[in-house]
Amino acid sequence: MNIVILAAGMGKRMHSGLPKVLQPVAARPMISRVVETAEGLGEGKVVVVIGHGGELVRERLAGDPRVGFTLQPEQLGTGDALRCALPLLDESDPKTLVLLGDVPLIRTETLSALCREAEDGIGLLTVNLGNPTGYGRIVKVCGSVRRIVEEKDATPEEKKIREVNTGIMVLPTRRLRDWAGRLTNENAQGEFYLTDFIGFAAGDGVTVRSTVAADPDEVMGVNSKRELAAAERAFQRREAEKLLDAGVTLADPARIDVRGMLECGQDVSIDVGCVFEGHVKLGNRVRIGAYCVLRDTEVANDTEILAFTHSDGASVGEEARIGPFTRLRPGAQLGRETHVGNFCEIKKSTIGTGSKVNHLSYIGDTTMGAHVNIGAGTITCNYDGVNKFRTEIGDDAFIGSDTQLVAPVSVGRGATLGAGTTLTRNAPEGKLTLSRARQVTVEGWQRPQKKASK
Ligand code: UD1
Ligand code: MG
Repeated sequence: MNIVILAAGMGKRMHSGLPKVLQPVAARPMISRVVETAEGLGEGKVVVVIGHGGELVRERLAGDPRVGFTLQPEQLGTGDALRCALPLLDESDPKTLVLLGDVPLIRTETLSALCREAEDGIGLLTVNLGNPTGYGRIVKVCGSVRRIVEEKDATPEEKKIREVNTGIMVLPTRRLRDWAGRLTNENAQGEFYLTDFIGFAAGDGVTVRSTVAADPDEVMGVNSKRELAAAERAFQRREAEKLLDAGVTLADPARIDVRGMLECGQDVSIDVGCVFEGHVKLGNRVRIGAYCVLRDTEVANDTEILAFTHSDGASVGEEARIGPFTRLRPGAQLGRETHVGNFCEIKKSTIGTGSKVNHLSYIGDTTMGAHVNIGAGTITCNYDGVNKFRTEIGDDAFIGSDTQLVAPVSVGRGATLGAGTTLTRNAPEGKLTLSRARQVTVEGWQRPQKKASK
């Protein structure tokens, strides 16, 4: 089967500098979603018609050997777009499936059912909408499809028709040249409409079988930011339902956003307002507090991530407790039973089993052993403005509050650093090290007094 995706339109109604089909749903361009769904049919090559912002679209899809491109030089309508794809089609293949780059939520299963039902005629995917505004209406006579009339060309009577064109159709390849040649642009928009093929088919005695899509969300067309937002919500609802069906507890399925892949073990629970990006893996019994953002992060069994935690490129071991208000940056590897608390930032560092960084600290480029206690306000000074240096902290070390570790530097096993230390040389094992001006009390000192005015 030939597959063509129409993606040349500008998308005026978006009011955006970004071509419409590159507008993202769940962080991926709509066109990438449609291409992936089309490839799911296992039919080989997919032809994408590009035009407005074509180079950007091509760039975005480059590297996928199954995608071919054809340029529609001027955006003269969907019928003209398909005409531009004709030279790339395999004429010996009886069926051509047409998809729209702005109908992003379509599923592969729906397409394969449509293709089966088309037989040697036309298979038209339609949908019944409570509010059909903006869509082409399906005009039927005695139950069979006669033509499609676009919103702008429809009479008040036709506008009342609730069954609309999703834009997705399977067409008999051998008829396409003839029908494309018969298109005119004598209509309200002055465009060559692909939808006119349906009228030609009915006139030529080619059967048009319409299949009503069961789920209107799946065939939603996205022409404006309002519709883009609606598609995003529909997509997220679908993701939330998949998680619920797999046994994940969601405090509110309407308040979670999955913009990538989220894998969950058993008895995971997720509070409201969380965002998952890239590839996130949560082990068994992991609890995620409200308003966390996790990206490319792995969390092991029985760990709790408390509210407002932000994590990117990190991994957290079993039975750990992170947050609230923790920031984990790329390369943060937290061992089992670690605690990292409020206003702590960890970057490119290993934190050993049971170690605690509970308050207001920055740990970067550090290797920390097990059962270390980091006092409030500890900073690893890892950067001299040009170079990065590492800090090493041995097992059971105790770092007093408000300490700066000026890297490269190491703290021996079981060492203690006094509060307020600025450590510039290595601290030996098992001993107390501190750098601190000696405290003095000045006897007889008096506060300055205000002179009484005369
Ligand atoms: C189209 C259908 C309408 C259907 C609706 C479903 C036509 C004439 N109308 O309307 O019946 O109900 O989709 O969402 O087909 N495109 C090109 N080249 C062009 C014009 C458009 O490649 O010259 C591409 C666009 O990038 C887009 C798709 O075709 O991906 C549909 O075009 P759009 O302008 O959005 O058509 P609608 O008004 O939504
Ligand atoms: Mg559209």
